[in-house]
Amino acid sequence: MITNTELEYKGNLYPNQVTDYQKDSDKFYLTTENGVILEITVIRNSVLRFRYATQHTFEPDFSYAIDPDASRGFNELLEEETTTDYRIFTSKLQILVDKKTLRVQISDLEGNILNEDELGFHWEENYEHGGNTVKMSKITQPSESFYGMGDKATHTNLKGRRVHNWVTDQYAYGKDQEPLYKAVPFFIGLHDNRAYGIFFDNTFRTHFDFSHERRNITSFWADGGEMNYYFFYGPAISRVVQAYTDLTGTPELPPLWSLGYHQSKWSYYPEKRVKEIARKFRKLKIPCDALYLDIDYMDGFRCFTWDKKHFPDPKRMISELEEEGFKTVVMIDPGIKVDREYSVYQEGMENDYFCKRADGPVMTGKVWPGPCAFPDYTDPKVREWWAGLYESFIKDSGLHAVWNDMNEPAVMEVPTKTAPLDTRHNYDGNPCSHRKAHNIYGMQMVRATYDGVKKYVFPKRPFVITRAAYAGTQRFACTWTGDNVATWEHLWIANVQVQRMCMSGYSFVGSDIGGFAEQPNGELFARWVQLGVFHPFCRVHSSGDHGDQEPWSFDAEVTGIVRKFIELRYQLLPYLYTMFWRYAKEGVPMLKSLVYYDQEDTQTHFRTDEFVFGDHFLVCPIQEPNAKGRRMYIPRGNWYNFWTGELVTGGSERWVASDIDKIPLFIKEGAIIPKYPVQQYVGEKTIEQLTLSVYYKEGDEQSTIYEDAGEGYDYKKGGYSVRNFRLRGKPKELIIQQFKDGTYITPYKSFKINLNGLPFKISKVEVDNEKVPLESVRLNGDNSIEVDKNFNVLHLIGR
Ligand code: GLC
Repeated sequence: MITNTELEYKGNLYPNQVTDYQKDSDKFYLTTENGVILEITVIRNSVLRFRYATQHTFEPDFSYAIDPDASRGFNELLEEETTTDYRIFTSKLQILVDKKTLRVQISDLEGNILNEDELGFHWEENYEHGGNTVKMSKITQPSESFYGMGDKATHTNLKGRRVHNWVTDQYAYGKDQEPLYKAVPFFIGLHDNRAYGIFFDNTFRTHFDFSHERRNITSFWADGGEMNYYFFYGPAISRVVQAYTDLTGTPELPPLWSLGYHQSKWSYYPEKRVKEIARKFRKLKIPCDALYLDIDYMDGFRCFTWDKKHFPDPKRMISELEEEGFKTVVMIDPGIKVDREYSVYQEGMENDYFCKRADGPVMTGKVWPGPCAFPDYTDPKVREWWAGLYESFIKDSGLHAVWNDMNEPAVMEVPTKTAPLDTRHNYDGNPCSHRKAHNIYGMQMVRATYDGVKKYVFPKRPFVITRAAYAGTQRFACTWTGDNVATWEHLWIANVQVQRMCMSGYSFVGSDIGGFAEQPNGELFARWVQLGVFHPFCRVHSSGDHGDQEPWSFDAEVTGIVRKFIELRYQLLPYLYTMFWRYAKEGVPMLKSLVYYDQEDTQTHFRTDEFVFGDHFLVCPIQEPNAKGRRMYIPRGNWYNFWTGELVTGGSERWVASDIDKIPLFIKEGAIIPKYPVQQYVGEKTIEQLTLSVYYKEGDEQSTIYEDAGEGYDYKKGGYSVRNFRLRGKPKELIIQQFKDGTYITPYKSFKINLNGLPFKISKVEVDNEKVPLESVRLNGDNSIEVDKNFNVLHLIGR
């Protein structure tokens, strides 16, 4: 219905004339004649929040995504009114709101437009469900590119695409198919070398159109809830990603073993088979830290139970595996079998913990055991109960970690693949339907699991995995990209998805290496492992329908290649752990797409395959059979080919040779890469010496190594060791300074320094300004020296 106070166009309603303006410390309220209120909150100098109410009424302000510990605070806030607009100034941004239309324009202090509304906020009343479809349209700036958005299996740059967020069990999904398992409504826009980000914190089904429908328009909308988005200003992409990640949080440090190699399959059973797998890893000397038990360990797919026929004594088995250096990870799904004899079902029914339909009865749907009820994890008391279920489960078996699956929630034999939309949820005291709770259901499940596992594995650290996720889930769990397929295209997809997740604040992620559905050949498996060892989470998992997918399931050559790459991962554990620490502490993504790495270079804006692992490795997978190498883009700067030692200058595409036993891999000049010896599992060996691979550079470069006990919480009380290295290379000199922090005493006494690319012969070595005899530090050959780990300055002088 058109009223004379509201603007209506094609069924949409628009705000009109601003009639009231109020400021309340960090918040500004602008109210229009037709009852729209825009609330602008200044969160940080370069982080803003925009929220719109219609009919003068905001919804309760509640979010599962926002980290309670997110940073807040700004140092400047000014306002100004002109005849046409209201203006707000922070120390980084100016915001202009048009008085006639409520449209917003955001610029930097020089007046460069970062982001501006086209139609801005508008809405459509929803007479079927109540509430509104809330919409926002913005002008796409010239040459603007878009990144982020979680697990979308499409090109890194989202320009020209439309995507949707509705977490979905998408078995054997394809390229460009979506929605998939995650809903991360966060994107990065980049134009004129300036980046900004928008996080649309709305848990209903959301939609984003990046210049797809209209070439110069970017829009996003939701099927319900509020137009409620955060704006982050860069100008560097890294700042945008860090600000988003700060707002939605990061995980604590995981146990170091979780960064090792993991082996999974649907399913390893009985016990004898699990033991055989374990033995084979040790026999073939292929490092491995964890074995996974999929649904078949359960008694008739009842969560928190064991099939006593196949696993007569889980505690003994798990402890025996532990003696061999294996952790055991078990699956828990949300579907609780409807079975009056089953205690979890009984407790859920007695205490009213299960989700109900709008008309009253408990919501049931089919999963592995047949009809199931689903705990309402959006109810705090249900989360507490769920967390508590892990107490005896963990204590009685000694298991190490939990894997939550099917938590979209996935429901079988219904076209929607999920719970009915009228299903009711508590939503932490803001009762709602599944339309609103769907996207966070899995997140709240894994949150409860995390709380339980954390409590009951204490004083060890928890490790929990989830398949479904909404923005912020990274605080609780590691994740994987779901049911992919053993094809070359899926190797490409895995690469894009893991990079995209990292750019979306969620770094602890990996794919089912080798593919879940169908069977890879040895070549595909080897190529996938070569990529997978550079993903934060490194696990082989498969449906098991089509044969085995262990490192030895192909031929001896493949086994050898797989071993070599898993060994490389184990050597790089201190490097990987340092990446994780920077992610956890500062929100720095563990993998960086090239555009993140060098946004100024427009060549990077459409690159998809290459990525930077940590700060210093450049990786590019081989994605087709029979390849002897590939063309790839080397970003600007000088890079050492990891395999040949050749120094190449970036800024162009080039052919890189890479036979089946290699992956294109480069190291940034000036890097200092820490390495542990190969171990069969984390903690197998006491690290007697730390290898530092030093890559000479004429100029400066920084490197960092973070270490701690790899378990427990001493690190929170200073029990860590940080080594910051500053490398300075001159034509006949190399100076390495070390700055140390923390009270953790690393077990090794010395560094073995491997020198790469040194353009001179060493004639003199000084440690902390004292000359040391060359013979006493030189190790076999000219290019390695041994130095005490506590040095402050190492000075190599050449002839
Ligand atoms: C789902 C999971 C898969 C698991 C299977 C059986 O398809 O994504 O990883 O193996 O269920 O539990």
